[in-house]
Amino acid sequence: MSEVVKLERHDNIAVVTVNSPPVNALSAAVRGGIFECIKSAIDDAQVQGIVLTCAGRTFIAGADITEFGKPPKPPGLAEVLSLMESSPKPIVAAIHGTALGGGLEVALACHYRVATKDAKLGLPEVKLGLLPGAGGTQRLPRAVGPELAVKMIVGGDPISADAALKAGLIDEIVEGPASGGEAFARKVVAEKRPLRKLRDDDSKLAAAKADRSIFTNAVAALTKKSRGLEAPFAAADAVGAAIDLPFDEGLKKEREGFLKLMNGEQSKAQRYAFFAEREAAKISGIPEGTKGRNVARVAILGAGTMGGGIAMSFANAGIPVTLIETGEEQLKRGMGIMQKNYEATAARGGIPADAPAKRMALINGVVGIENVGDADLVIEAVFETMAVKKEVFGKLDQYAKPGAVLASNTSYLNIDEIAKATKRPQDVLGMHFFSPANVMKLCEIVRADKTAPDALVTAVSIARKIAKVPAVVGVCDGFVGNRMLAQRGKQAEKLLFEGALPQQVDAVVTKFGMPMGPFAMGDLAGLDIGWRSRKDRGIKSEIADALCEAGRFGQKTGKGYYKYEQGSRAALPDPEVEKLIDETLARLGRKKRVVSDDEILERMMYPMINEGAKILAEGIAARPSDIDVVWLYGYGWPIYRGGPMFWADTVGLKHIADRLAFYAKETNDPSLEPAPLLKKLADEGKTFASLAAASKAA
Ligand code: 3HC
Ligand code: NAI
Repeated sequence: MSEVVKLERHDNIAVVTVNSPPVNALSAAVRGGIFECIKSAIDDAQVQGIVLTCAGRTFIAGADITEFGKPPKPPGLAEVLSLMESSPKPIVAAIHGTALGGGLEVALACHYRVATKDAKLGLPEVKLGLLPGAGGTQRLPRAVGPELAVKMIVGGDPISADAALKAGLIDEIVEGPASGGEAFARKVVAEKRPLRKLRDDDSKLAAAKADRSIFTNAVAALTKKSRGLEAPFAAADAVGAAIDLPFDEGLKKEREGFLKLMNGEQSKAQRYAFFAEREAAKISGIPEGTKGRNVARVAILGAGTMGGGIAMSFANAGIPVTLIETGEEQLKRGMGIMQKNYEATAARGGIPADAPAKRMALINGVVGIENVGDADLVIEAVFETMAVKKEVFGKLDQYAKPGAVLASNTSYLNIDEIAKATKRPQDVLGMHFFSPANVMKLCEIVRADKTAPDALVTAVSIARKIAKVPAVVGVCDGFVGNRMLAQRGKQAEKLLFEGALPQQVDAVVTKFGMPMGPFAMGDLAGLDIGWRSRKDRGIKSEIADALCEAGRFGQKTGKGYYKYEQGSRAALPDPEVEKLIDETLARLGRKKRVVSDDEILERMMYPMINEGAKILAEGIAARPSDIDVVWLYGYGWPIYRGGPMFWADTVGLKHIADRLAFYAKETNDPSLEPAPLLKKLADEGKTFASLAAASKAA
């Protein structure tokens, strides 16, 4: 008998239970166990019906992703599913938790499906750069019709049990999976219901066969935002094959597409990102088994751009928030913006119509910091100056309850310094959200010198609870993300002095897959902020200063590095900017040269990687993959390139180090000299990934 799959017989019903924690993924052992148990049940003359169910927190959550890219081990999933579908005895899949990917494909090969009310069913392979590879693209359209199938397969989001029932994906909603599945199987046997094989049922394909636009329109809408990605298009093609070809030929086409994607670079990067995200939630260097503190109520200081977005993130997760401001007017403004934001999302159909009222009811806006007393976690999002932060933390020390975690959302400031304003530095850390905070998934958790392990665990787990991706980082100017970004910014600016134009630099960066280039990003954030800060520090940046002196502050003034038409966010190249740059260069006696796109890409990316190497050497990030998580979820790094450190390994560290050394000399910029760690790895022919592997082995 298999260790991970068990077979029991209850009278004439065989119950096959998969028990392979944590998520019952389809490892070779699980596939083998299902095959053997189903075969035994078919061979057992006493058995008239079979139930396939799972123990633990979920139904099968998919193929075992750790097996991808390794030599396949028998039996293959296709072989298991073929045995199940051709079984002469009805098989009922009894689903709870999440039936995802290969898990849903197993269920689709059964003759009937039941699920608990809170179950979710989906084919998320596309999020791993794949398409469903075990019949999902052929059986799901036959179960629910091509329109919904393409939405689930190309979009990758799961649907609820209620929606699955409505669409015909499941036959009944049950209380408990095993008992409900068994009762349903008894009904099928007693009523002598037929063996329903999706492969033989083309009825739901008829409409799309007659009018293919049903399918093509759905695909066009779904792939609008898939720039650069291969999987959504390949997945759509595979669903198209379900409409156009007989089942077995469609299956063959699906298999070819799956193998091509699985062996390609994009899926490798996306699978890496999946594990990097989960790895980042594991905090290194704290006692094993450290438990977090209980967080039932949160207070947020500041209802500005960030405070409002952070408050919404908590309310979205159903956690009550006290939102604190210095005056009624500021509070009213902040509450108004949140209300409007929610209403706009509801109007777009992004949240139910009653959600804005429900979520706003969770946010209690008040004036005065003395109202933090009942909060288990306080997040400060007030103005970015050390004096203000210190004053606020001094007051928090006075009013916050003992044991409350005190977090700052500062972008750059030193958390050790901020913690000194309290008598409880063990409770102080950074929770650095990204703008817009209700949308961006990253939260850098900044571990200060004296932060207690349980405070850190609290911050990481609450971040996950509000659907953010946490990454633990150390104290330094700008932490991981903004510190690396500063290196890119510096080179972007220098490129203008050498002859490149903002639109040329931005085009290279967006072609690489980033959502925005540095100059469009500057226009969005507002150029006046940096200008004022430079003035305070007595620093000059001739081109950026000249833009601001001409009143070009970015999008908010309709002009910056680009021009913007009334009410539009589209960045349009502006001849006036080119003229302004030319004049500035002439004034400084600088000569323009032709800067190639290749050079731009190298000077945008390699200095960031160099900074990443310094960050690792200093222990500011524990793993290269943590840096990648920061860039994937905080800055929109294209997921199919894995993250800057992953991408650097694919380019080759020797090449990167050589090019940095070249630019350091060529542009007379010592900051571009390869960092010692980068140089060492390059000289030894190693990768950043080798560091992670070495630290795991230690
Ligand atoms: N294979 C291997 N390991 C997996 C896995 C999988 N499919 N799914 C989850 N895990 C691991 C995670 O890495 C994590 O390991 P760790 O504890 O060592 O870090 C552990 O299981 C728990 O995962 P989560 O932390 O993500 O747990 P949650 O409860 O938050 O979420 C989940 C559970 C919704 C199932 C989520 O893990 C998930 O989305 N998993 C991936 C689902 C998926 O993509 N399935 C499709 C796979 S591809 C496929 O099936 C191809 C087929 O068509 C042939
Ligand atoms: P903001 O200026 O939009 O909002 C700050 C708010 O704090 C104002 O409404 C102000 O009235 C309020 N405030 C000031 N002192 C206060 C006090 N003592 N008690 C309660 N409220 C007080 O600023 P923004 O952009 O929201 O930034 C807040 C913090 O978040 C800063 O530290 C900033 O560096 C950081 N941050 C900003 C990001 C951004 O893109 N705007 C991104 C990530 C972090």
